[in-house]
Amino acid sequence: MRSRSSWSAEDLAEVRRSFARFAEEYANLPLYRAICLGMADDPEPAALLLHAQPGQARPVLFLAALHDLVLRRPDLPAARWYPSVVGPDAVPGGDPWPDVLATIQAHREELRETIATRRTQTNEVNRAVYVATVLALASADVPARPTILVELGASAGLLLAVDRYRIELHRRGVALVVGDPASPVRCRGEDRSPTPLPDLVLPPIRGRAGLDLAPVDLDDEASVRWLEACLWPDVPGRVERFRAAITLLRENRPALHAGDMAGDLDGTIDITLAQAGQAGRSGIHLIVFSSWALTYVERRRRTDIAEVLADVAQTLGAVSWVTAEPVGCAPGIPVPNRMADGMDSTVLGGRRWRHGLEMPAEAWGTCHPHGEWIALSESALGGIR
Ligand SMILES: C[S@@+](CC[C@H](N)C(=O)[O-])C[C@H]1O[C@@H](n2cnc3c(N)ncnc32)[C@H](O)[C@@H]1O
Repeated sequence: MRSRSSWSAEDLAEVRRSFARFAEEYANLPLYRAICLGMADDPEPAALLLHAQPGQARPVLFLAALHDLVLRRPDLPAARWYPSVVGPDAVPGGDPWPDVLATIQAHREELRETIATRRTQTNEVNRAVYVATVLALASADVPARPTILVELGASAGLLLAVDRYRIELHRRGVALVVGDPASPVRCRGEDRSPTPLPDLVLPPIRGRAGLDLAPVDLDDEASVRWLEACLWPDVPGRVERFRAAITLLRENRPALHAGDMAGDLDGTIDITLAQAGQAGRSGIHLIVFSSWALTYVERRRRTDIAEVLADVAQTLGAVSWVTAEPVGCAPGIPVPNRMADGMDSTVLGGRRWRHGLEMPAEAWGTCHPHGEWIALSESALGGIR
């Protein structure tokens, strides 16, 4: 950890400016806006963020550390302002900053320790909206094949249970439902495609596994709480959805392997195929997917993943690699003709190998990074009609 003397006044000024920018950008989040305005004004609490690991001194890390503290200690003054602690209907009106500041001052050391040792990590359940869509697209030509899912950068593996969630895609008052309609985990997105999405058919999933540098063990309370702390409590439904998914997965959890998505992919595929125990590899459809994870891997190593899959495709009848990543991130996936919401949106892409041969790579469309909307291209829609 850096010593205090290694920080410059400019470092602290930049941290305070970053809180001011966050408050401005997310003015619709009453709690986080108030906290960030307070942090921007007061150098004393803002200096805590200077204890972060290199490159981590961002408001979201501080907000997560504070959220983690109140989730652990619901008796603290700041806790009553968190919908995730007291429930969305019990949050009082007024300014949370005096209570938040009192909590920060009384728990400075705990916050410093969390900030110095943690990095933000997410597992956003509502991304199931776009994961379900790309699974339907990838398997449109082989819809009934027993399918093995492998997620790269799976975190706690919550997206691997995509078929066990109720996923609603709304368009002008009508909802298309995918997955398990009776599920306690409800995901929701808006269909902004040029013409309405047809029914989406998920393939029959016979095996599933996640690969992550730091997989989150669902029995590790502190790690699960940190994932929850990294969610923004001001966004309605987000924490509730996360908790429902954790409960569901604890009953029946996918295998999670610790490892690098490029270097350890072939071994993970072998183990997962063996565990699924499907007779005859040629009848299997292997779908490897990543959502906001490939972007953390060095560009030149991303192509190693395609090489592993091309090799595996020599013995499996159908292999697909689907990605939901920032524009230009997934190797071989073209930039969509029309980015639905500027260059910040997520690109949905697919590479497929059938009987050992690769088909042309496709950009299927774009979506909100948390699945709040999705916009498929006309050609992608044509592939599933
Ligand atoms: C932003 S999170 C996304 C998690 C999940 N895919 C989702 O969409 O909610 C990125 C994940 O990628 C993992 N990760 C980053 N680099 C990795 C690598 N080289 N190999 C495996 N996992 C990696 C991180 O540990 C983290 O859990």
